[in-house]
Amino acid sequence: MMEGLKIKRVSKTLNGIRIVDDVTATFLPGRITALIGPNGAGKTTLFHLITGELKADSGEIVYKGDDISKLKPYIIARRGVGRLFQDVRVFDNLTVFDNVASACFDQEVESPWYPFVKCSHLKRKIREIKDVIYSYLNFVGLSDMDNIYAGALSYGQQKLLAIARLLAGGYSLLLLDEPTAGLNPVMIKKVLEILERIVEEDKGKTIILVEHNMSAVTEVADWVYFMNEGKIAFFGRTDHVLGDKEVREIYLGM
Ligand SMILES: Nc1ncnc2c1ncn2[C@@H]1O[C@H](COP(=O)(O)OP(=O)(O)OP(=O)(O)O)[C@@H](O)[C@H]1O
Ligand SMILES: [Mg+2]
Repeated sequence: MMEGLKIKRVSKTLNGIRIVDDVTATFLPGRITALIGPNGAGKTTLFHLITGELKADSGEIVYKGDDISKLKPYIIARRGVGRLFQDVRVFDNLTVFDNVASACFDQEVESPWYPFVKCSHLKRKIREIKDVIYSYLNFVGLSDMDNIYAGALSYGQQKLLAIARLLAGGYSLLLLDEPTAGLNPVMIKKVLEILERIVEEDKGKTIILVEHNMSAVTEVADWVYFMNEGKIAFFGRTDHVLGDKEVREIYLGM
């Protein structure tokens, strides 16, 4: 039942350097698990390996019981792996509504009958989909801005929109790369509350949070992986890891 994501002895060498070095980690559903570590530790690269944009040299990446490490990125996405990029990506010249609407079709059912089913139910579907889209906009607090072009939103609002797109895409594993970076304290609070609500309301969702903001980590993550020079150097409960002398020396320079 509690399967989530299991990374087993994964390594990746780029230009002769072991960027990800024998990483083993488990990320459980219904939970926000943080992945922290200094700049260049390999956190984003590990995300690339999970999404399939990079292929591991060795090891296994098992999601919901299947090894996804050799699948193409779009297939991995269909298996439910979604990602919030370090730089926010929304469609500037689409409205807020259309941004979320387009995300609804990210993962279409792989069935030869799908186009027929789609046609016969289209009218009803459109109404249903509209409700669904507004439920996601409500969830992130953007329903009043449905008709605004995404390019006109503040950076923080674009991040909320990117989260709404992830939800609309139906992804069950959310890889979040520094979601609070560049946000003001009010917006950070908002984003963290949304993340907590996501795993609270859907225990099937797994969130991996890459963060440099330690108070954000303390606030939402119960468990932390600490990565350094491509390796998982430490794993444990958040207060343990952040309180560890070695972690503080390597990371916080204390
Ligand atoms: N395509 C590549 N070829 C060679 N080296 C790379 C490549 N991509 C990343 N690297 C190197 O891999 C290391 C890890 O990078 P990565 O972006 O995964 O770190 P990170 O933990 O996400 O850091 P940050 O916290 O700064 O985002 C860095 O030294 C980086 O320069
Ligand atoms: Mg990074």
